[in-house]
Amino acid sequence: MNFPLIAPSVLSADFANLGRDIEMINNSEADWFHIDVMDGVFVPNISFGFPVIKAIQKQAKKTMDVHLMIVQPERYIKDFKAAGADILSVHYEASTHLHRTLYAIKEEGMKAGVAINPHTPVHLLKDIIKDIDLVCMMSVNPGFGGQKFIEQTYTKCADLKAMILASGSDCLIEIDGGVNEITAPKLLASGADVLVAGNYVFASNNPTETIASLKKLGTHTTQLA
Ligand code: DX5
Ligand code: ZN
Repeated sequence: MNFPLIAPSVLSADFANLGRDIEMINNSEADWFHIDVMDGVFVPNISFGFPVIKAIQKQAKKTMDVHLMIVQPERYIKDFKAAGADILSVHYEASTHLHRTLYAIKEEGMKAGVAINPHTPVHLLKDIIKDIDLVCMMSVNPGFGGQKFIEQTYTKCADLKAMILASGSDCLIEIDGGVNEITAPKLLASGADVLVAGNYVFASNNPTETIASLKKLGTHTTQLA
């Protein structure tokens, strides 16, 4: 598998032309579909739910990476599996019994991710890092596409990488928010494996080329666990 993995965020797609935008991702060098689910409670925005995810899944030919920005995410694990999620990430801040939730996700045959807000220190993941397949590190406050990247993320990403290496975990680091041609190379140098990109891809003149330009920043190759 060639890193970085590129995960265009469907949140920035044109919903009136969703089929066209899904097809663009299918035919691009992107690796995953990043699907943002917001409940208007955990974050101050509402995005979309099961009918839309199922419709995307019908047409999508790549991994469905679902990022839940909802309270009590453990309520809907089976539903997201049924909707087509391959990777399901829940927020650390929204999960009282995170360990139980991660194993419930794995039990359904999905990869289990943990998303952390910009204010959440990575050391809080220390005792659970070996149980996590993916850390979705928020580099903006979750809720909206097109926000300004938070610079502290580089240090945080390097700290998390060190923790992962020390633990022997094969957890991937995904960076979510404000990824572009300036931030991406520095993120990869800090240990990032997966780059989510919404606005940078969909507001560009040639989204397919923009995805290819991120993919070209290639860092390393590894086996998928
Ligand atoms: C924000 C979402 C992100 C968002 C990223 O809450 O989790 O996935 O779509 O958008 P950009 O790349 O535009 O910052
Ligand atoms: Zn996201």
